[in-house]
Amino acid sequence: MSNTIVVGAQWGDEGKGKIVDFLTEKTDVVVRAAGGSNAGHTVINNGTKYILHLIPSGVLWREKLCIIGNGVVIDPMGLLEEMAKLRGQGVHISPQNLRISETAHLVMPYHKALDRAREARRGANAIGTTGRGIGPAYADKVERNGLRAILLTRPQELEKQLRLRIDSNQEFIVASGVEPIDVESSVAAVLKAAEELAPFICNTAVACHEAIAQGKDLLFESAQGTYLDIDHGTYPFVTSSNTTTGGACTGSGVPPRLINRVVAVCKAYTTRVGSGPFVTENEEIGDMLHNMGREFGATTGRARRCGWLDAVLLRYAVMINGADELAITNLDGLDGLDEIKICTAYRLDGQTLQYPPSTVEDLERCEPIYESHPGWKQDLSGMKRFCDLPEKAKSYLKRIEELTKARLSLLGIGPAREQTLVV
Ligand code: IMP
Repeated sequence: MSNTIVVGAQWGDEGKGKIVDFLTEKTDVVVRAAGGSNAGHTVINNGTKYILHLIPSGVLWREKLCIIGNGVVIDPMGLLEEMAKLRGQGVHISPQNLRISETAHLVMPYHKALDRAREARRGANAIGTTGRGIGPAYADKVERNGLRAILLTRPQELEKQLRLRIDSNQEFIVASGVEPIDVESSVAAVLKAAEELAPFICNTAVACHEAIAQGKDLLFESAQGTYLDIDHGTYPFVTSSNTTTGGACTGSGVPPRLINRVVAVCKAYTTRVGSGPFVTENEEIGDMLHNMGREFGATTGRARRCGWLDAVLLRYAVMINGADELAITNLDGLDGLDEIKICTAYRLDGQTLQYPPSTVEDLERCEPIYESHPGWKQDLSGMKRFCDLPEKAKSYLKRIEELTKARLSLLGIGPAREQTLVV
């Protein structure tokens, strides 16, 4: 038995979907434990591109069991849309290979409207959310006022609770200048979705433990990244869940002592979407990557902000996630550069920092301390073995290992499954 967590070490979009897809071959059960349809995992398999938001990417393997755990927030209509698209691409989805936690919270139409309303009210301080209702759904969960997935199997109670909550939120939504909720069509859509999803609902903590008892391997697919974590991220420019490894345990009911391996995923450079500080941001790299058609969000289509690799962030992410391994993706994005920089520390008020400061105000003021590496100026995307990489690429990667104290185990040199090299 070996249970592995794959976690994002930056601001999300590190290419976790691809790494999870690669590791899934040797696992039995793939679990999502936090976040919602704000996530967007792109997986390319045999030339077909699949985009997953809520469903673990293990679903692309027919014989694997996929679990959406209690820590996830679920938009029932969004989930059905995602299922329909995947089924249209020939993917099998049924209660045999997908289970949904009965205690996961539901993202309802009023949560999406509240997301827009609160962002509108924040004005210049807007977080730049994905607009998927994530913050308001988690806020209701913590406020103990949420609706849980078990209600999808109890339509009468669901309808009653839904109407009450639309009613109590409508005034705020309208006052914020956001389109009011159309009560009847919303209720009808939720009830229809409930009917279709009810067969998938169960106690997924029990399902995980039954699988473990049978000697099966579990793979936890984290969504977003360490710096979007509600506790450890660049608060308030974060998402509303624990995206770090602890969240995989609380969000699934699988205890920490049953986790054997943590793989932290990062890009060979850094990106972020939405607002908030970004010490190594660099417009030139952004332009280069966007001109290559890269770094547009899978969920929102937004162009991502881009910059040099930030080893300060990675060092801290490796520490708090307990990561023993690094999976570095998108190395091929740097193929054309003469010079590549790594930020090894920050300078703030005359001091050198090895770890990021805790407030966005201080992070905003940090100056990156860079070291320079020569580019390899060679197309890596067709490489078949790690040992064939140019020495300059190897030494760049070696330096990242030294700076983060984690061992490189997987390397991504392109979007396809076969472009993941084992180190
Ligand atoms: P929310 O999760 O929609 O509330 O958005 C909060 C912040 O997290 C915003 O900056 C989003 O752009 C960011 N975010 C949420 N999900 C993802 C993701 O999957 N990848 C990258 N950024 C994300």
